Amino acid sequence: MAETAAAAVLLPLAGRRNVLVTSALPYVNNVPHLGNLVGCVLSADAYARYCRLRGHNVLFVCGTDEYGTATEARALQEGCSPREVCDRFHALHREVYRWFGIRFDHFGRTSSQQQTEICQGVFRRLLDNGWLSEKTIQQLYCGSCERFLADRLVEGSCPVEGCGHDSARGDQCERCGELLNSIELIDPKCKVCGSAPCVRDTDHLFLELPLLKEKLEGYIDGASGDGSWSHNAVHVTNAWLKPRCITRDLKWGVPVPHDKYKDKVFYVWFDAPIGYISITACYTPEWEKWWKNPENVELYQFMGKDNVPFHTVMFPATLLGTGENWTLLKAISVTEYLTYESGKFSKAKGIGVFGNDTKDTNIPPEVWRYYLLTNRPEESQFWKLYKQDPPGCATVMKTSVGLVYLLACLLEPFMPSFSKEVLQQLNLCPDEHLSFCDEKGDRDKAKRPWDLIPSGHRIGKPAPLFKGLDDNTVKGFKEKFAGSQTERRLRAEVAAQ
Ligand code: MF3
Ligand code: ZN
Repeated sequence: MAETAAAAVLLPLAGRRNVLVTSALPYVNNVPHLGNLVGCVLSADAYARYCRLRGHNVLFVCGTDEYGTATEARALQEGCSPREVCDRFHALHREVYRWFGIRFDHFGRTSSQQQTEICQGVFRRLLDNGWLSEKTIQQLYCGSCERFLADRLVEGSCPVEGCGHDSARGDQCERCGELLNSIELIDPKCKVCGSAPCVRDTDHLFLELPLLKEKLEGYIDGASGDGSWSHNAVHVTNAWLKPRCITRDLKWGVPVPHDKYKDKVFYVWFDAPIGYISITACYTPEWEKWWKNPENVELYQFMGKDNVPFHTVMFPATLLGTGENWTLLKAISVTEYLTYESGKFSKAKGIGVFGNDTKDTNIPPEVWRYYLLTNRPEESQFWKLYKQDPPGCATVMKTSVGLVYLLACLLEPFMPSFSKEVLQQLNLCPDEHLSFCDEKGDRDKAKRPWDLIPSGHRIGKPAPLFKGLDDNTVKGFKEKFAGSQTERRLRAEVAAQ
């Protein structure tokens, strides 16, 4: 007999809310830091757990994002294969999230056979449906390495007047901050071998986002109508409708199944979101029940701020372009950058607290989870929402007041007059207690925190409920009440003489 029964595979169920939760797939080639943790996985974990408590049928998937230049560059640096880099770091990610108590239903990786198949399948349909175009662009080519140089593999002097920083990167100058095109660099050098690259023409495939505009808009209107998409999510989306290059001159990636482009791979941001799907396919061969089932599955995606347009534009447009019936993003949860000593966390610069550091503190994971979740850098400052997102503000207010009501009722057996006072301040009748009755009829009528208070309810005037005890008062009491009553009386008599 097997020692443990294999966990049943989770599939959408009829008559239930089926919630598919994803958190952005962390880049494999580094140790995750607290910023990723909050944005990528911890918030999604808290949400998935909450959904399970509510009795929804949840599938929470994540995994490492493994392809692209960053991995290839790291492998070059370390003199090993990209696969080896990925194996090592995938295990590390897995361990950090395990330590944090993240309950994925499946934690996979993008460098799988399933990824190649699904990604190439999506590509073929986009090609057949006419959503791709070809363009010739110019890029730096290193003759001695015999390869095109990705932005981060080239360095040169910054072309910006008055800057001239001598080690500007191919995509940006770190000194003046200007975004660059690598062919603009002065005296460029290949970072691998040091020789001077030349400019060469290279053909690439582009996803015609402007042509997909209408489809995308139709979808966004449907999806954002009920307020699930925040204002800025919709705004960023509109700024993004330009043709987007989806191929790269690299080896470590999903090969482009096209004669002319067979030596190229897909751009990592084209394949990475498809990773959500392929990771699910690694979990169950019946993955289409989750991913091609928009009528019965709700997709909730969690990510850091810089990932938004890829999830609101690029990924939905890609799926819409196939003409198939995919499950598309229903609600997005975006985390602002977590700051560290008032700067930004940066994996590249090694600034911040990293996954393995937290373990070394010996502070238990629950404490970190609590701290990180209560200190999420943004998502509900009602005074801001009040102006930017009135329906969101209303939900926050209603939920908060509902929770205060609920807690006040739960505390009634301990502090009855406190409970009464809170109800009064909430402008509720003091004996309007919530029912915690066990009888079936009453139990079924149980209200939820956001439904406890009727819409439009006006709370009363809030006033402090407790007075703080300052150190002096505590000290005074200590002196006054020290020892036995006899001793106190004697002390008082002495003092009176
Ligand atoms: N790897 C990206 C990051 O860490 C996130 C990829 S999310 C996915 O910023 F959509 F591509 F999966
Ligand atoms: Zn070179």
